[in-house]
Amino acid sequence: DVGVPGPPHSSEVLDIAHRGASGYAPENTLAAIEEAAQRGASTVETDVQRTADGELIFMHDADLTRTTDAADVYPDRDSYDVADFTLDEIRELDAGSWFSEEFAGEPVPTLQEGLDLMRELKLGFLLEIKLSHRYPGIDEDIAEVLYDNPWFLSPGALPGRPGYDRLAIQDFNWDTVQSSRELYPDHVPHGLLGVVPEDELQAYGAWADQVNPNHSLIDADYVAAVQDAGMEVHVYTVNDPTDMRRAIDRGVDGVITDYVDVLHGVIAEN
Ligand code: G3P
Ligand code: CA
Repeated sequence: DVGVPGPPHSSEVLDIAHRGASGYAPENTLAAIEEAAQRGASTVETDVQRTADGELIFMHDADLTRTTDAADVYPDRDSYDVADFTLDEIRELDAGSWFSEEFAGEPVPTLQEGLDLMRELKLGFLLEIKLSHRYPGIDEDIAEVLYDNPWFLSPGALPGRPGYDRLAIQDFNWDTVQSSRELYPDHVPHGLLGVVPEDELQAYGAWADQVNPNHSLIDADYVAAVQDAGMEVHVYTVNDPTDMRRAIDRGVDGVITDYVDVLHGVIAEN
């Protein structure tokens, strides 16, 4: 038994700050989460990977060099794969300067630090398990941390958004989505990143909760088909107001954006 869904929520589209408010602060940092809260986001999306010594951190790329100064700090390393560095090594890195000097010295956060801040700021969390094929068992590691943070596990209790959940988990790897889903008998919604073929929606809808595709790949009929199969649709990464309007008109349940304040403006037009 994988549990029962939470109570139904209103029809207002969920506003999800992609990698934090990554249009305004360096992605996947605590600064980006704070920025998301300041800009009124209800929910934050971040990417979770695992270090060489088994710690869970926020990082999007497989390699550290785009969003940190790893190549400068460790010039003699052959590879900059996240999975080859310990947490202590990663803690030496600056994950802010690449974005702007204003954020110089911003560290790579652990999952636990992110959870602490989101709880303090009363934010919901869309947790993406990133590159899970590289990290066997990462879904179990994540569940262990989440069970130590039960605030996130209350269904339908997103602050200020009655009926919405505080936590959802998504992955492009649908096998990992399914194995993760089974770790939460009391129900944590799970999302399939990508486009599920229409003729497979009913089968996935038997256990999955969301289909989360790139916004440019779907139309209103597809959104309706996903919802008919009992799942929600959360589209990424929607940064242009025209695309936001179109996604909302198509009936999506959530919009994942780098510019959550722009999304609020579009929602307010309706
Ligand atoms: O939340 C969905 C979106 O984040 C997936 O793409 O590459 O930004 O992780 P990516
Ligand atoms: Ca992501």
